[in-house]
Amino acid sequence: MERIVILDFGSQYTQLIARRVREAGVFSEIHPCTRPVEEIAAMQPDGLVLSGGPLSVYDDEAPQLQPGLLELEKAGGEPVPVLGICYGLQAMAHLLGGDVEAAERREFGPADLERVPSEHGNASEGAGSALFAGVPEGSTVWMSHGDHLTALPDGYEAIARTGNAPVAAVRSTRRPHYGVQFHPEVVHTDYGRAVLENFALEICGCEGDWSPASFVKTQVESIRAQVGAEEHVLLGLSGGVDSSVAAALISEAIGEQLHCIFVNNGVLRKGEFEEVQAAFRGHFDLHLKAVDASERFLERLDGVTDPEKKRVAVGNTFIEVFEEATDEVAERVGKKPRYLAQGTLYPDVIESVSTGGPSQTIKTHHNVGGLPEEMGLELIEPFRELFKDEVREIGRLLSVPERIVGRHPFPGPGLAIRIAGPVEREKLRLLREADDIFVSALREAGLYDEVWQAFAVLLPVQTVGVMGDERTYENVCALRAVESVDGMTADWAKLPHDFLGRVAGRVVNEVPGINRAVYDITCKPPATIEWE
Ligand code: XMP
Repeated sequence: MERIVILDFGSQYTQLIARRVREAGVFSEIHPCTRPVEEIAAMQPDGLVLSGGPLSVYDDEAPQLQPGLLELEKAGGEPVPVLGICYGLQAMAHLLGGDVEAAERREFGPADLERVPSEHGNASEGAGSALFAGVPEGSTVWMSHGDHLTALPDGYEAIARTGNAPVAAVRSTRRPHYGVQFHPEVVHTDYGRAVLENFALEICGCEGDWSPASFVKTQVESIRAQVGAEEHVLLGLSGGVDSSVAAALISEAIGEQLHCIFVNNGVLRKGEFEEVQAAFRGHFDLHLKAVDASERFLERLDGVTDPEKKRVAVGNTFIEVFEEATDEVAERVGKKPRYLAQGTLYPDVIESVSTGGPSQTIKTHHNVGGLPEEMGLELIEPFRELFKDEVREIGRLLSVPERIVGRHPFPGPGLAIRIAGPVEREKLRLLREADDIFVSALREAGLYDEVWQAFAVLLPVQTVGVMGDERTYENVCALRAVESVDGMTADWAKLPHDFLGRVAGRVVNEVPGINRAVYDITCKPPATIEWE
Protein backbone atom coordinates (compact mmCIF):
# COMPACT_ATOMS: atom_id res chain seq x y z
CA MET A 1 0.00 0.00 0.00
CA GLU A 2 1.21 3.50 -0.82
CA ARG A 3 2.10 5.49 2.27
CA ILE A 4 3.61 8.76 3.28
CA VAL A 5 5.34 8.88 6.63
CA ILE A 6 5.06 12.06 8.67
CA LEU A 7 7.82 12.61 11.18
CA ASP A 8 6.63 14.57 14.16
CA PHE A 9 8.91 17.28 15.52
CA GLY A 10 6.32 18.41 18.05
CA SER A 11 3.94 20.59 16.04
CA GLN A 12 0.37 21.05 17.17
CA TYR A 13 -0.56 20.61 13.49
CA THR A 14 1.02 17.20 12.84
CA GLN A 15 -2.30 15.37 12.81
CA LEU A 16 -3.62 17.89 10.30
CA ILE A 17 -0.79 17.05 7.91
CA ALA A 18 -1.80 13.39 8.12
CA ARG A 19 -5.43 14.32 7.46
CA ARG A 20 -4.61 16.43 4.40
CA VAL A 21 -2.38 13.73 2.88
CA ARG A 22 -5.14 11.17 3.33
CA GLU A 23 -7.61 13.55 1.75
CA ALA A 24 -5.30 13.49 -1.27
CA GLY A 25 -5.93 9.73 -1.33
CA VAL A 26 -2.63 8.57 0.13
CA PHE A 27 -2.48 6.72 3.41
CA SER A 28 -0.29 8.56 5.89
CA GLU A 29 1.01 7.75 9.32
CA ILE A 30 2.74 9.72 12.05
CA HIS A 31 5.92 8.65 13.79
CA PRO A 32 8.21 10.44 16.23
CA CYS A 33 11.22 12.12 14.59
CA THR A 34 13.40 10.02 16.87
CA ARG A 35 12.28 6.72 15.35
CA PRO A 36 15.39 4.91 14.05
CA VAL A 37 16.09 5.39 10.35
CA GLU A 38 16.07 1.62 9.69
CA GLU A 39 12.54 1.36 11.08
CA ILE A 40 11.34 4.18 8.85
CA ALA A 41 13.09 2.58 5.87
CA ALA A 42 11.36 -0.72 6.62
CA MET A 43 7.99 1.03 6.23
CA GLN A 44 8.94 1.64 2.59
CA PRO A 45 7.50 5.14 2.50
CA ASP A 46 6.66 6.78 -0.81
CA GLY A 47 7.51 10.13 0.76
CA LEU A 48 8.46 11.78 4.03
CA VAL A 49 7.01 14.91 5.55
CA LEU A 50 8.90 16.61 8.37
CA SER A 51 6.44 18.44 10.61
CA GLY A 52 6.80 21.81 12.28
CA GLY A 53 7.78 22.08 15.90
CA PRO A 54 7.85 24.58 18.77
CA LEU A 55 11.61 24.80 19.32
CA SER A 56 14.53 26.45 17.61
CA VAL A 57 17.09 24.15 15.95
CA TYR A 58 19.71 25.64 18.28
CA ASP A 59 17.87 24.79 21.51
CA ASP A 60 19.56 22.17 23.64
CA GLU A 61 16.63 19.77 23.52
CA ALA A 62 15.70 20.57 19.91
CA PRO A 63 14.94 17.37 18.00
CA GLN A 64 17.39 17.01 15.11
CA LEU A 65 16.82 15.45 11.74
CA GLN A 66 18.61 12.12 11.41
CA PRO A 67 20.89 12.32 8.35
CA GLY A 68 19.92 8.90 7.02
CA LEU A 69 16.38 10.11 6.46
CA LEU A 70 17.50 12.25 3.54
CA GLU A 71 19.18 9.27 1.92
CA LEU A 72 16.27 6.83 1.83
CA GLU A 73 15.56 5.08 -1.44
CA LYS A 74 12.49 3.44 -2.87
CA ALA A 75 12.53 -0.19 -4.01
CA GLY A 76 13.51 0.90 -7.53
CA GLY A 77 16.50 2.85 -6.22
CA GLU A 78 15.09 6.35 -6.73
CA PRO A 79 15.29 8.75 -3.74
CA VAL A 80 12.35 9.04 -1.34
CA PRO A 81 10.97 12.60 -1.68
CA VAL A 82 11.01 14.79 1.43
CA LEU A 83 8.93 17.85 2.33
CA GLY A 84 10.00 19.86 5.38
CA ILE A 85 7.38 22.12 6.89
CA CYS A 86 8.48 25.10 9.02
CA TYR A 87 10.72 23.54 11.70
CA GLY A 88 11.02 20.51 9.42
CA LEU A 89 12.54 22.77 6.76
CA GLN A 90 14.82 24.45 9.32
CA ALA A 91 15.98 21.08 10.67
CA MET A 92 16.77 19.96 7.12
CA ALA A 93 18.66 23.17 6.33
CA HIS A 94 20.53 23.09 9.64
CA LEU A 95 21.65 19.51 9.04
CA LEU A 96 22.88 20.34 5.54
CA GLY A 97 24.90 23.39 6.58
CA GLY A 98 22.44 26.21 5.92
CA ASP A 99 21.84 29.02 8.43
CA VAL A 100 18.77 29.35 10.58
CA GLU A 101 18.35 32.48 12.67
CA ALA A 102 15.79 34.08 14.91
CA ALA A 103 13.68 36.45 12.84
CA GLU A 104 13.54 40.05 14.06
CA ARG A 105 9.96 39.48 14.99
CA ARG A 106 7.94 36.35 15.21
CA GLU A 107 5.79 35.98 12.14
CA PHE A 108 2.31 34.75 12.80
CA GLY A 109 -0.54 35.12 10.36
CA PRO A 110 -1.30 35.39 6.67
CA ALA A 111 1.22 36.33 3.96
CA ASP A 112 1.15 36.47 0.15
CA LEU A 113 3.20 33.83 -1.60
CA GLU A 114 5.34 34.92 -4.55
CA ARG A 115 7.30 32.51 -6.70
CA VAL A 116 11.00 33.08 -7.22
CA PRO A 117 12.36 32.35 -10.70
CA SER A 118 14.63 29.33 -10.82
CA GLU A 119 18.27 29.44 -11.69
CA HIS A 120 18.32 25.72 -12.31
CA GLY A 121 14.86 24.62 -13.22
CA ASN A 122 13.37 24.23 -16.62
CA ALA A 123 12.59 27.84 -17.55
CA SER A 124 9.32 27.10 -19.27
CA GLU A 125 8.12 25.09 -16.31
CA GLY A 126 9.31 27.46 -13.58
CA ALA A 127 10.98 26.59 -10.34
CA GLY A 128 9.21 24.32 -7.94
CA SER A 129 6.29 24.08 -10.27
CA ALA A 130 5.65 20.52 -9.22
CA LEU A 131 5.03 21.64 -5.64
CA PHE A 132 3.12 24.75 -6.57
CA ALA A 133 1.18 23.49 -9.60
CA GLY A 134 -2.25 25.11 -9.55
CA VAL A 135 -1.27 27.55 -6.78
CA PRO A 136 -1.93 31.10 -8.00
CA GLU A 137 0.67 33.82 -7.58
CA GLY A 138 -0.04 35.92 -4.49
CA SER A 139 -2.25 33.36 -2.77
CA THR A 140 -2.42 33.44 1.00
CA VAL A 141 -0.20 31.21 3.09
CA TRP A 142 -0.18 30.91 6.87
CA MET A 143 3.04 31.68 8.71
CA SER A 144 3.79 30.75 12.29
CA HIS A 145 7.47 30.83 13.12
CA GLY A 146 10.13 32.58 15.14
CA ASP A 147 13.19 31.38 13.19
CA HIS A 148 13.85 31.55 9.48
CA LEU A 149 16.45 30.54 6.93
CA THR A 150 19.14 33.11 6.24
CA ALA A 151 21.45 30.95 4.12
CA LEU A 152 20.49 27.95 2.06
CA PRO A 153 22.51 24.77 2.10
CA ASP A 154 24.52 23.92 -0.99
CA GLY A 155 22.40 22.58 -3.78
CA TYR A 156 19.21 24.27 -2.58
CA GLU A 157 17.41 27.22 -4.11
CA ALA A 158 14.54 29.42 -2.99
CA ILE A 159 11.37 28.86 -4.98
CA ALA A 160 9.05 31.26 -3.18
CA ARG A 161 9.11 34.24 -0.84
CA THR A 162 6.69 36.41 1.06
CA GLY A 163 6.85 40.10 2.00
CA ASN A 164 8.55 39.19 5.28
CA ALA A 165 10.40 36.04 4.41
CA PRO A 166 12.83 36.05 1.50
CA VAL A 167 12.86 32.25 1.73
CA ALA A 168 9.32 30.91 2.02
CA ALA A 169 9.97 27.70 0.09
CA VAL A 170 13.02 25.85 -1.16
CA ARG A 171 13.95 22.86 -3.20
CA SER A 172 17.03 20.83 -3.81
CA THR A 173 18.35 21.05 -7.34
CA ARG A 174 19.62 17.48 -7.05
CA ARG A 175 17.00 15.50 -5.22
CA PRO A 176 13.19 15.64 -4.79
CA HIS A 177 13.59 17.49 -1.49
CA TYR A 178 11.40 20.48 -0.73
CA GLY A 179 10.75 22.73 2.20
CA VAL A 180 8.14 25.36 3.03
CA GLN A 181 8.30 27.93 5.79
CA PHE A 182 4.51 28.30 5.83
CA HIS A 183 1.94 25.74 6.99
CA PRO A 184 0.17 24.10 4.02
CA GLU A 185 -1.81 21.85 6.41
CA VAL A 186 -3.93 24.61 7.96
CA VAL A 187 -7.08 25.90 6.30
CA HIS A 188 -5.77 29.48 6.35
CA THR A 189 -3.31 28.56 3.60
CA ASP A 190 -5.62 28.92 0.62
CA TYR A 191 -3.94 26.36 -1.59
CA GLY A 192 -2.35 24.28 1.17
CA ARG A 193 -4.32 21.26 0.14
CA ALA A 194 -3.00 21.59 -3.41
CA VAL A 195 0.60 21.86 -2.15
CA LEU A 196 0.30 18.64 -0.13
CA GLU A 197 -1.55 16.91 -2.94
CA ASN A 198 1.18 17.96 -5.41
CA PHE A 199 3.78 16.55 -3.06
CA ALA A 200 1.93 13.26 -2.57
CA LEU A 201 0.83 12.66 -6.15
CA GLU A 202 3.25 14.51 -8.43
CA ILE A 203 6.46 14.45 -6.43
CA CYS A 204 6.07 11.15 -4.57
CA GLY A 205 4.33 9.60 -7.57
CA CYS A 206 1.47 8.06 -5.60
CA GLU A 207 -1.73 6.98 -7.33
CA GLY A 208 -3.91 8.40 -4.56
CA ASP A 209 -6.43 5.58 -4.43
CA TRP A 210 -6.70 5.29 -0.64
CA SER A 211 -10.08 6.26 0.82
CA PRO A 212 -12.24 5.24 3.75
CA ALA A 213 -14.20 3.10 1.26
CA SER A 214 -11.10 1.27 0.06
CA PHE A 215 -10.15 0.91 3.72
CA VAL A 216 -13.45 -0.87 4.44
CA LYS A 217 -12.80 -3.33 1.66
CA THR A 218 -9.31 -4.26 2.84
CA GLN A 219 -10.33 -4.37 6.50
CA VAL A 220 -13.29 -6.64 5.79
CA GLU A 221 -11.00 -9.03 3.94
CA SER A 222 -8.32 -8.98 6.59
CA ILE A 223 -10.74 -9.46 9.51
CA ARG A 224 -12.36 -12.34 7.64
CA ALA A 225 -8.97 -13.93 7.05
CA GLN A 226 -7.83 -13.35 10.63
CA VAL A 227 -10.94 -14.70 12.34
CA GLY A 228 -11.62 -17.54 9.91
CA ALA A 229 -14.80 -19.59 9.97
CA GLU A 230 -14.45 -21.05 13.46
CA GLU A 231 -13.54 -18.27 15.89
CA HIS A 232 -15.77 -15.71 17.58
CA VAL A 233 -15.36 -12.02 18.32
CA LEU A 234 -16.72 -10.03 21.27
CA LEU A 235 -17.42 -6.35 21.19
CA GLY A 236 -18.61 -4.05 23.96
CA LEU A 237 -21.17 -1.87 22.22
CA SER A 238 -21.73 1.47 23.92
CA GLY A 239 -23.89 3.14 21.31
CA GLY A 240 -21.11 5.67 20.69
CA VAL A 241 -19.69 6.28 17.21
CA ASP A 242 -16.53 4.19 17.49
CA SER A 243 -17.93 0.96 18.91
CA SER A 244 -21.05 1.20 16.72
CA VAL A 245 -19.12 1.62 13.48
CA ALA A 246 -16.68 -1.11 14.56
CA ALA A 247 -19.68 -3.41 15.07
CA ALA A 248 -21.04 -2.57 11.60
CA LEU A 249 -17.67 -3.15 9.93
CA ILE A 250 -16.92 -6.43 11.68
CA SER A 251 -20.45 -7.64 11.06
CA GLU A 252 -19.82 -7.05 7.36
CA ALA A 253 -16.78 -9.31 7.64
CA ILE A 254 -17.95 -12.17 9.84
CA GLY A 255 -21.70 -11.77 10.48
CA GLU A 256 -22.95 -13.80 13.41
CA GLN A 257 -19.48 -14.73 14.59
CA LEU A 258 -19.59 -11.24 16.08
CA HIS A 259 -21.19 -10.98 19.52
CA CYS A 260 -21.97 -7.47 20.69
CA ILE A 261 -22.62 -6.92 24.35
CA PHE A 262 -24.55 -3.79 25.20
CA VAL A 263 -24.92 -3.11 28.91
CA ASN A 264 -27.52 -0.92 30.54
CA ASN A 265 -25.45 0.45 33.39
CA GLY A 266 -28.33 2.42 34.89
CA VAL A 267 -26.67 5.72 33.99
CA LEU A 268 -27.58 5.91 30.30
CA ARG A 269 -29.53 8.82 28.86
CA LYS A 270 -33.28 8.90 28.27
CA GLY A 271 -34.35 6.18 25.83
CA GLU A 272 -30.77 5.17 25.06
CA PHE A 273 -30.99 1.48 25.96
CA GLU A 274 -33.91 1.02 23.57
CA GLU A 275 -32.58 3.34 20.85
CA VAL A 276 -29.25 1.57 20.43
CA GLN A 277 -30.90 -1.84 20.29
CA ALA A 278 -33.37 -0.60 17.70
CA ALA A 279 -30.51 0.72 15.55
CA PHE A 280 -28.77 -2.67 15.48
CA ARG A 281 -31.38 -5.39 15.80
CA GLY A 282 -32.58 -6.54 12.44
CA HIS A 283 -30.32 -4.06 10.63
CA PHE A 284 -26.95 -5.74 10.98
CA ASP A 285 -25.91 -9.34 10.72
CA LEU A 286 -24.56 -9.92 14.25
CA HIS A 287 -25.52 -11.25 17.67
CA LEU A 288 -26.63 -8.48 19.99
CA LYS A 289 -26.87 -9.27 23.65
CA ALA A 290 -28.43 -6.42 25.60
CA VAL A 291 -27.95 -6.86 29.33
CA ASP A 292 -29.97 -4.75 31.73
CA ALA A 293 -27.70 -4.60 34.77
CA SER A 294 -28.90 -1.21 35.94
CA GLU A 295 -29.89 -2.44 39.40
CA ARG A 296 -26.44 -3.87 40.05
CA PHE A 297 -24.70 -0.68 38.90
CA LEU A 298 -26.95 1.57 40.98
CA GLU A 299 -26.33 -0.55 44.08
CA ARG A 300 -22.59 -0.20 43.56
CA LEU A 301 -22.96 3.53 43.11
CA ASP A 302 -25.12 3.93 46.19
CA GLY A 303 -23.72 6.64 48.48
CA VAL A 304 -20.59 7.19 46.32
CA THR A 305 -19.80 10.87 45.94
CA ASP A 306 -16.16 10.96 44.87
CA PRO A 307 -15.98 11.21 41.04
CA GLU A 308 -13.04 8.82 40.71
CA LYS A 309 -14.78 6.28 42.96
CA LYS A 310 -17.86 6.54 40.74
CA ARG A 311 -15.63 5.74 37.76
CA VAL A 312 -14.15 2.75 39.53
CA ALA A 313 -17.58 1.48 40.59
CA VAL A 314 -18.96 1.72 37.06
CA GLY A 315 -15.76 0.33 35.50
CA ASN A 316 -15.48 -2.69 37.80
CA THR A 317 -19.15 -3.56 37.52
CA PHE A 318 -18.87 -3.33 33.74
CA ILE A 319 -16.02 -5.85 33.75
CA GLU A 320 -18.08 -8.22 35.89
CA VAL A 321 -21.13 -7.98 33.65
CA PHE A 322 -19.06 -8.28 30.50
CA GLU A 323 -17.32 -11.41 31.78
CA GLU A 324 -20.64 -13.02 32.64
CA ALA A 325 -22.02 -12.18 29.21
CA THR A 326 -18.85 -13.64 27.67
CA ASP A 327 -19.42 -16.90 29.52
CA GLU A 328 -22.96 -17.02 28.16
CA VAL A 329 -21.71 -16.47 24.62
CA ALA A 330 -19.14 -19.24 25.12
CA GLU A 331 -21.82 -21.61 26.30
CA ARG A 332 -24.09 -20.80 23.39
CA VAL A 333 -21.48 -21.18 20.66
CA GLY A 334 -19.64 -24.05 22.38
CA LYS A 335 -16.24 -22.34 22.67
CA LYS A 336 -14.63 -19.32 24.26
CA PRO A 337 -14.47 -16.31 21.94
CA ARG A 338 -10.89 -15.66 20.89
CA TYR A 339 -11.02 -11.99 19.97
CA LEU A 340 -12.11 -8.71 21.50
CA ALA A 341 -12.90 -5.88 19.08
CA GLN A 342 -12.47 -2.26 20.12
CA GLY A 343 -13.07 1.04 18.42
CA THR A 344 -9.68 2.55 19.40
CA LEU A 345 -8.84 5.55 17.19
CA TYR A 346 -5.56 6.78 15.75
CA PRO A 347 -5.20 9.86 18.00
CA ASP A 348 -5.12 7.47 20.99
CA VAL A 349 -2.25 5.43 19.60
CA ILE A 350 -0.07 8.02 17.89
CA GLU A 351 3.25 8.26 19.57
CA SER A 352 3.75 11.91 18.89
CA VAL A 353 6.47 14.24 20.06
CA SER A 354 3.96 16.97 20.80
CA THR A 355 1.92 14.86 23.17
CA GLY A 356 4.77 12.88 24.68
CA GLY A 357 3.38 9.61 23.36
CA PRO A 358 0.35 7.58 24.20
CA SER A 359 0.99 7.53 27.93
CA GLN A 360 0.02 11.16 28.08
CA THR A 361 -2.73 11.21 25.50
CA ILE A 362 -4.80 8.32 26.74
CA LYS A 363 -6.63 8.97 29.94
CA THR A 364 -7.17 5.67 31.65
CA HIS A 365 -10.88 6.25 31.39
CA HIS A 366 -10.63 6.23 27.63
CA ASN A 367 -9.62 2.59 27.43
CA VAL A 368 -12.84 1.09 26.22
CA GLY A 369 -14.47 -0.52 29.21
CA GLY A 370 -10.99 -1.07 30.67
CA LEU A 371 -11.32 -4.81 30.14
CA PRO A 372 -8.55 -6.71 31.91
CA GLU A 373 -5.83 -8.55 30.05
CA GLU A 374 -6.55 -11.71 32.06
CA MET A 375 -9.57 -12.25 29.88
CA GLY A 376 -6.96 -13.58 27.48
CA LEU A 377 -8.58 -12.13 24.37
CA GLU A 378 -6.69 -11.04 21.29
CA LEU A 379 -7.49 -7.53 20.14
CA ILE A 380 -9.02 -6.48 16.86
CA GLU A 381 -8.85 -2.71 16.48
CA PRO A 382 -9.86 -1.87 12.93
CA PHE A 383 -9.72 1.91 13.47
CA ARG A 384 -6.31 2.11 15.08
CA GLU A 385 -5.12 4.07 12.07
CA LEU A 386 -8.16 6.27 11.52
CA PHE A 387 -9.34 9.67 12.65
CA LYS A 388 -12.82 10.15 14.05
CA ASP A 389 -14.34 11.74 10.97
CA GLU A 390 -12.96 8.94 8.80
CA VAL A 391 -14.75 6.51 11.13
CA ARG A 392 -17.91 8.59 10.74
CA GLU A 393 -17.57 8.39 6.96
CA ILE A 394 -17.22 4.62 7.18
CA GLY A 395 -20.27 4.46 9.45
CA ARG A 396 -22.28 6.26 6.77
CA LEU A 397 -20.96 3.92 4.08
CA LEU A 398 -22.10 0.98 6.20
CA SER A 399 -25.55 2.53 6.83
CA VAL A 400 -25.13 3.10 10.54
CA PRO A 401 -27.97 5.53 11.40
CA GLU A 402 -27.01 9.20 11.28
CA ARG A 403 -28.15 9.68 14.88
CA ILE A 404 -25.40 7.33 15.99
CA VAL A 405 -22.75 8.35 13.48
CA GLY A 406 -23.06 12.03 14.37
CA ARG A 407 -23.33 11.54 18.09
CA HIS A 408 -21.51 13.63 20.67
CA PRO A 409 -19.06 11.73 22.87
CA PHE A 410 -20.61 10.33 26.05
CA PRO A 411 -18.44 9.23 28.98
CA GLY A 412 -18.33 5.59 30.06
CA PRO A 413 -19.50 6.41 33.62
CA GLY A 414 -22.44 8.18 31.98
CA LEU A 415 -24.82 10.26 34.04
CA ALA A 416 -23.08 9.12 37.24
CA ILE A 417 -20.50 11.87 36.70
CA ARG A 418 -23.18 14.40 35.73
CA ILE A 419 -24.90 14.25 39.09
CA ALA A 420 -22.68 16.11 41.51
CA GLY A 421 -22.90 14.20 44.78
CA PRO A 422 -24.54 10.81 45.29
CA VAL A 423 -26.31 9.14 42.36
CA GLU A 424 -29.96 8.60 43.26
CA ARG A 425 -32.82 7.31 41.14
CA GLU A 426 -34.91 10.45 41.48
CA LYS A 427 -31.96 12.62 40.52
CA LEU A 428 -31.30 10.41 37.50
CA ARG A 429 -34.90 10.85 36.45
CA LEU A 430 -34.67 14.65 36.67
CA LEU A 431 -31.35 14.75 34.86
CA ARG A 432 -32.55 12.50 32.02
CA GLU A 433 -35.52 14.77 31.38
CA ALA A 434 -33.52 18.00 31.50
CA ASP A 435 -30.76 16.56 29.30
CA ASP A 436 -33.28 15.30 26.76
CA ILE A 437 -34.98 18.70 26.54
CA PHE A 438 -31.63 20.46 25.97
CA VAL A 439 -30.26 18.00 23.42
CA SER A 440 -33.56 17.67 21.50
CA ALA A 441 -33.83 21.47 21.34
CA LEU A 442 -30.30 21.65 19.92
CA ARG A 443 -31.23 19.14 17.24
CA GLU A 444 -34.44 20.99 16.38
CA ALA A 445 -32.58 24.30 16.13
CA GLY A 446 -29.90 22.74 13.90
CA LEU A 447 -27.25 23.47 16.54
CA TYR A 448 -26.41 19.92 17.59
CA ASP A 449 -23.68 19.42 15.00
CA GLU A 450 -22.21 22.83 15.75
CA VAL A 451 -20.96 21.78 19.17
CA TRP A 452 -18.60 19.06 20.33
CA GLN A 453 -20.69 18.06 23.33
CA ALA A 454 -23.82 19.35 25.04
CA PHE A 455 -25.49 18.02 28.14
CA ALA A 456 -27.14 18.82 31.44
CA VAL A 457 -25.62 18.40 34.90
CA LEU A 458 -27.60 18.14 38.14
CA LEU A 459 -26.15 20.20 40.96
CA PRO A 460 -26.25 19.31 44.64
CA VAL A 461 -27.92 22.56 45.66
CA GLN A 462 -31.51 23.61 46.12
CA THR A 463 -32.67 27.11 45.41
CA VAL A 464 -35.82 29.10 45.98
CA GLY A 465 -38.21 29.81 43.15
CA VAL A 466 -41.77 30.82 42.60
CA MET A 467 -44.28 28.83 40.56
CA GLY A 468 -47.72 30.37 40.28
CA ASP A 469 -48.29 31.74 43.76
CA GLU A 470 -46.19 29.10 45.44
CA ARG A 471 -42.69 29.20 46.74
CA THR A 472 -40.56 26.28 45.52
CA TYR A 473 -37.32 24.94 46.92
CA GLU A 474 -35.87 22.65 44.29
CA ASN A 475 -32.83 21.49 42.31
CA VAL A 476 -30.62 23.46 39.94
CA CYS A 477 -29.42 22.09 36.67
CA ALA A 478 -26.45 23.37 34.67
CA LEU A 479 -26.43 23.32 30.89
CA ARG A 480 -23.02 22.75 29.33
CA ALA A 481 -22.16 23.01 25.64
CA VAL A 482 -18.60 23.22 24.34
CA GLU A 483 -16.69 23.56 21.14
CA SER A 484 -13.58 21.45 20.83
CA VAL A 485 -11.44 19.61 18.31
CA ASP A 486 -10.34 16.68 20.41
CA GLY A 487 -11.75 17.17 23.91
CA MET A 488 -8.30 18.10 25.22
CA THR A 489 -9.12 21.81 25.26
CA ALA A 490 -12.56 23.34 24.88
CA ASP A 491 -14.32 26.65 24.63
CA TRP A 492 -17.84 27.21 25.90
CA ALA A 493 -20.31 27.35 23.04
CA LYS A 494 -21.77 30.78 22.33
CA LEU A 495 -25.31 29.49 21.87
CA PRO A 496 -27.89 32.20 21.12
CA HIS A 497 -29.27 33.77 24.30
CA ASP A 498 -32.87 33.39 23.23
CA PHE A 499 -32.29 29.70 22.52
CA LEU A 500 -30.76 29.20 25.98
CA GLY A 501 -33.62 31.15 27.52
CA ARG A 502 -36.18 28.90 25.84
CA VAL A 503 -34.38 25.74 26.99
CA ALA A 504 -34.13 27.00 30.58
CA GLY A 505 -37.84 27.87 30.51
CA ARG A 506 -38.76 24.45 29.20
CA VAL A 507 -36.60 22.59 31.72
CA VAL A 508 -38.08 24.45 34.67
CA ASN A 509 -41.63 24.14 33.40
CA GLU A 510 -41.51 20.56 32.20
CA VAL A 511 -39.34 18.94 34.88
CA PRO A 512 -40.97 19.25 38.28
CA GLY A 513 -38.13 19.14 40.79
CA ILE A 514 -35.88 21.58 38.89
CA ASN A 515 -36.61 25.27 39.39
CA ARG A 516 -33.46 26.88 38.01
CA ALA A 517 -31.12 26.36 35.07
CA VAL A 518 -27.72 27.99 34.62
CA TYR A 519 -25.32 27.98 31.65
CA ASP A 520 -21.68 27.07 32.18
CA ILE A 521 -19.35 29.57 30.51
CA THR A 522 -15.96 28.23 31.57
CA CYS A 523 -13.34 26.96 29.18
CA LYS A 524 -11.08 23.94 29.47
CA PRO A 525 -8.54 24.62 30.86
CA PRO A 526 -8.95 25.66 33.60
CA ALA A 527 -12.28 23.81 33.97
CA THR A 528 -12.90 20.41 32.37
CA ILE A 529 -15.73 19.53 30.03
CA GLU A 530 -17.50 17.27 32.51
CA TRP A 531 -18.23 18.61 35.98
CA GLU A 532 -16.75 15.55 37.67
P1 XMP B 1 -12.99 16.25 30.59
O1 XMP B 1 -14.14 16.31 31.54
O2 XMP B 1 -11.79 15.53 31.14
O3 XMP B 1 -13.49 15.39 29.38
O4 XMP B 1 -12.65 17.59 30.05
C1 XMP B 1 -12.83 15.25 28.14
C2 XMP B 1 -13.62 14.27 27.32
O5 XMP B 1 -13.57 12.98 27.94
C3 XMP B 1 -14.87 12.55 28.29
N1 XMP B 1 -14.76 11.89 29.59
C4 XMP B 1 -14.81 10.57 29.76
N2 XMP B 1 -14.98 9.56 28.87
N3 XMP B 1 -14.89 8.02 30.64
C5 XMP B 1 -15.03 8.28 29.33
O6 XMP B 1 -15.22 7.34 28.55
C6 XMP B 1 -14.70 8.98 31.59
O7 XMP B 1 -14.58 8.69 32.77
C7 XMP B 1 -14.67 10.31 31.11
N4 XMP B 1 -14.50 11.52 31.74
C8 XMP B 1 -14.58 12.47 30.77
C9 XMP B 1 -15.73 13.79 28.32
O8 XMP B 1 -17.10 13.49 28.10
C10 XMP B 1 -15.10 14.61 27.22
O9 XMP B 1 -15.56 14.20 25.95
